[in-house]
Amino acid sequence: MKLLVTGGAGFIGSAFVRMAHGSGFEIVNLDKLTYAGNPENLEAVEGKAGYRFVHGDICDAALVEGLLEEARPEAIVHFAAESHVDRSILSPDAFVETNVRGTFTLLEAAKKAGTRKFCHVSTDEVYGSVEAPHEATEEDALRPNSPYSASKAGSDLLVRSYFQTYGLPAVVTRASNNYGPYQFPEKLIPLMILNAMENRPLPVYGDGQQVRDWLYVEDHCRALMAVLEKGRAGETYNIGGNRSLANLEVVRRVLESVGRPETLIQYVRDRPGHDRRYALSSAKLMNETGWAPEVSFEDGLSETIRWYRGHPGWIERVRSKEYREYYAANYSGRGLKKSETL
Ligand code: NAD
Ligand code: DAU
Repeated sequence: MKLLVTGGAGFIGSAFVRMAHGSGFEIVNLDKLTYAGNPENLEAVEGKAGYRFVHGDICDAALVEGLLEEARPEAIVHFAAESHVDRSILSPDAFVETNVRGTFTLLEAAKKAGTRKFCHVSTDEVYGSVEAPHEATEEDALRPNSPYSASKAGSDLLVRSYFQTYGLPAVVTRASNNYGPYQFPEKLIPLMILNAMENRPLPVYGDGQQVRDWLYVEDHCRALMAVLEKGRAGETYNIGGNRSLANLEVVRRVLESVGRPETLIQYVRDRPGHDRRYALSSAKLMNETGWAPEVSFEDGLSETIRWYRGHPGWIERVRSKEYREYYAANYSGRGLKKSETL
């Protein structure tokens, strides 16, 4: 089976490309290589038969239409997005452009090409903050609270409309917080691992009692493979890790695993509009496909720390000037001293 993957040079997309190519899928990977897209994430497949990289923007209709016409993939797996909530608060434009217009552009091209499967990779953040003990189901209302989650909710609704109106055989998946190797260090777990390794302050937003459900990236990719194989067109599938933890607990476990003291924790100004709790029921996906998460948080975290320890060159290279500027803007705005930023 031939797949067009978008955003396959990012964290989850590259894990999916490595897994799907390893399972015999032919892959065409369309990626703009924004700050988050990194060809180094794809060294395992680069130059191999059945893998091809196309450098381009999903908002470029002529490029996307031409690619579908020429490559004729059986399915599209759509990861490409602006993905970081804090960046969406500082500069939302690119989120609306890529996440909404980019998804629209792909849907139009898929409709014209008669693509037989369209898998839209979305997020549990579209449900907004979920009151305990409820776990969001696919039937819950969408209540996004950040420009990022609003742009993802907008794209989910466009996908729904292309199924309802044009019969495009599309599915939407909504995963919880991913972690694992190759994650860009702006996100909580890699940021805390790197700061702990380097004895820099670990900036915890607000009281650190916000709850997230942690999903190891390979479990997410296995779920997407199951959806590709067995998912029903027009349906939405939640993908949760079934491992809820408060942020402070995650940070403490990172410090313990890296062997650093809790005095490195620094409480900083909270994220505006910060969702208190995400929680998902994945019962529908589990019942329909037999998928279940396989990697415990303890094993996933150890593997992730081991990976970052073993890749100092990767870390150095992704910490570009742009990243350092973002870090200074985000964290000095929250109360870290200039000398404490990167
Ligand atoms: P990421 O930021 O690591 O990677 C995004 C990739 O998309 C990069 O390779 C980037 O170059 C590419 N890209 C961005 N704009 C593009 C454009 N206009 N055209 C083509 N390529 C473009 O993101 P990620 O964490 O791997 O997330 C991938 C997808 O999964 C996103 O859609 C995100 O919303 C969703 N998701 C992420 C998580 C998570 O915890 N990280 C959880 C649930 C869902
Ligand atoms: O839930 C799925 C979503 O998970 C994905 O859709 C997003 O693409 C992904 O970025 C992630 O969003 P979050 O906002 O939950 O992830 P982030 O890693 O930014 O933050 C996780 C939690 O940790 C959140 O409550 C904010 C907090 N945090 C984060 C950072 C970066 C801190 O306390 N300090 C920090 O420095």
